[in-house]
Amino acid sequence: MKKYFTTAISYVNGKPHLGHAYEAILTDVFTRYNKLFGHDCLMLTGVDEHGQKVYDVAVEKNMDPLAYCDSLIPDFTNLLKASDVDYDVFFRTTDESHMKNVQSILQKLYDKGDIYKDYYEGNYCTPCETFYTEKDLNDGKCPECGRETTIIKEENYFFNMAKYADQYEEFLNANDDFIYPKFRKNETLGILKKGLRPLCISRKKEKMPWGIEIPFDKDFVTYVWFDALINYIDGIGYLTDDEKFNSYWSGAVHNIGKDILLHHCVYWPTMLMAMEVPLPKKIVIHGFWMGEGGKKMSKSLGNVIDPIGLIEKYGSSSFRFYVLREMSLGHDGVFTKEFFINRHNNELANDFGNLLNRATHMVVKNFDGIIPEPSKKTEHCDAFISEFNTLLSGIEQKIYDYELNKALDDIMKMIRSTNKYMEDTAPWKLIKEDKELCGAVLYNALESVRITSILLSPVIPKKFEEIKDIFNGEIPGDLEFGKLVPGKKINKAVSLFPKIEKEKEPEKVKEVVQDNLIGIEDFGKVEIKTGKIIKAESVEDSNRLLLTEVDLGNGDVRQIVAGIAKFYQPEDILNKHILVASNLKPAIIMGIESQGMLLSVKKGKKLRLVEIDSELPLGKKLV
Ligand code: MSP
Repeated sequence: MKKYFTTAISYVNGKPHLGHAYEAILTDVFTRYNKLFGHDCLMLTGVDEHGQKVYDVAVEKNMDPLAYCDSLIPDFTNLLKASDVDYDVFFRTTDESHMKNVQSILQKLYDKGDIYKDYYEGNYCTPCETFYTEKDLNDGKCPECGRETTIIKEENYFFNMAKYADQYEEFLNANDDFIYPKFRKNETLGILKKGLRPLCISRKKEKMPWGIEIPFDKDFVTYVWFDALINYIDGIGYLTDDEKFNSYWSGAVHNIGKDILLHHCVYWPTMLMAMEVPLPKKIVIHGFWMGEGGKKMSKSLGNVIDPIGLIEKYGSSSFRFYVLREMSLGHDGVFTKEFFINRHNNELANDFGNLLNRATHMVVKNFDGIIPEPSKKTEHCDAFISEFNTLLSGIEQKIYDYELNKALDDIMKMIRSTNKYMEDTAPWKLIKEDKELCGAVLYNALESVRITSILLSPVIPKKFEEIKDIFNGEIPGDLEFGKLVPGKKINKAVSLFPKIEKEKEPEKVKEVVQDNLIGIEDFGKVEIKTGKIIKAESVEDSNRLLLTEVDLGNGDVRQIVAGIAKFYQPEDILNKHILVASNLKPAIIMGIESQGMLLSVKKGKKLRLVEIDSELPLGKKLV
């Protein structure tokens, strides 16, 4: 059966980050597993170039939007390459043929009466490129990202989503596994229950010209989501290559993050219904990577992980292994360097690395590298093979069911049980007592090396290429225990997963008081900004620290740990307008990241925060 896996296409308003890398790797790993199990698969990824947010950055940089997008493409393709993502299609929404297709779809829906003109007044969140009503807002802010929205009042074109709501609800009820995980299906049904409003699908060109022109009204461009979602069908030949489109689309699986459920699980299916195109097979919704302490990753918090840096330092295979194994698919995960190193050291270096070394070392040393015959048995052999086979037999189905974490757990169990089998049978002792029996044990261990390596190959494709050298580049692909051919020569595994030395924690920053004078250039390096404390709470197990969130304006909210608990209760400092040293390197205090310092004055045993006039705007630099 043909299958088609897609990522969301990334906005090009900045460099790609860990979330983009994860989603591409996740999609790649499902594509690779399905290929391994014999399916003909395509993978699509790409970039979403139109819309307000990309336009704003281009304007800020004084660049033509297309030239700006062009300049960022290498960052995205380099990340895919560095992450070993083997995609077939890299989609750009500025592609001529896509723009034509979007226009012909718009025309079709307009002619059908599903798109019509009306007056619109609503709140627009530019970072999310999404329209909200007053009711949707959370304390006047975007319900998704919590940022300020802008009121947009203009005549616009609308897509009548509600017309397809019942049909879609019926579809969802009949196709229980359309949305993974299940709780996201319930979330979607909840949205449908509230009733669907018409979807605004245009923007007035004079206000935001960076989009695909509406074919029946030259004063408007297409709303970025209506344009972007269509990439999924265009990427495999919708309206241009019917045969290709028809054969892959029925096996389409969209992999997306939880923040864009509304667009994929509500807008897109109703759009497809209006277009009379069948719905994809599945939508898989993953969680978000969070920074230390479970905080959202954001540039302003300074806790964004640079995937390229990690890949360059530790290799793509360890990076892929970590993100796929650490994140339970569908839920949020926390990325910390410590967890990363532990995963690598415990599972790749210890469990898998040891198996590779032990099994190959003894065959090379004692059998001249020739794979021995499994002609004898110890008391442990049958039980080991049977447990191994039980785990092996469930993996393919787990992948089809998107139970990636369970599949990876089982592969690691197979590896660990082989290590245990070697400890139980002790071939290093058997070699002196019964060489033939020792050879049989080593055959079984090598067979486990072969099968578990193949099963891990979608996760660690680059390392798998090196593992193949053990078998002189030829590794029988049959996933059945016993298919390894005795009599062939193997090589000793080189150290494939060396342990990562843990770097020492940076020393706690000590205050250095100098009584000498500094020059203005040194003073100029310090950035002190006006801020407002918007959240304050005690820190568990500390009578000295308070954990605060400080608003520095323009969406820059800092988490700051302050040693002021002896002088203030959390409620005393809430809403205080204060000063913040805002360009300090983040420090970890009691395991919590602190992204700045609240300025205070100490006299004897008393300490007071430096408070400022609440009329002063937030985020202003002291000059
Ligand atoms: N352009 C839209 C998608 C259009 S698809 C027709 C978009 N782009 S995005 O660049 O903001 O996000 C791309 C993908 O990255 C989304 O699926 C999003 O959920 C995912 N992630 C963004 N930040 C993330 C994390 N911190 N963690 C995991 N994935 C996250 O939305």
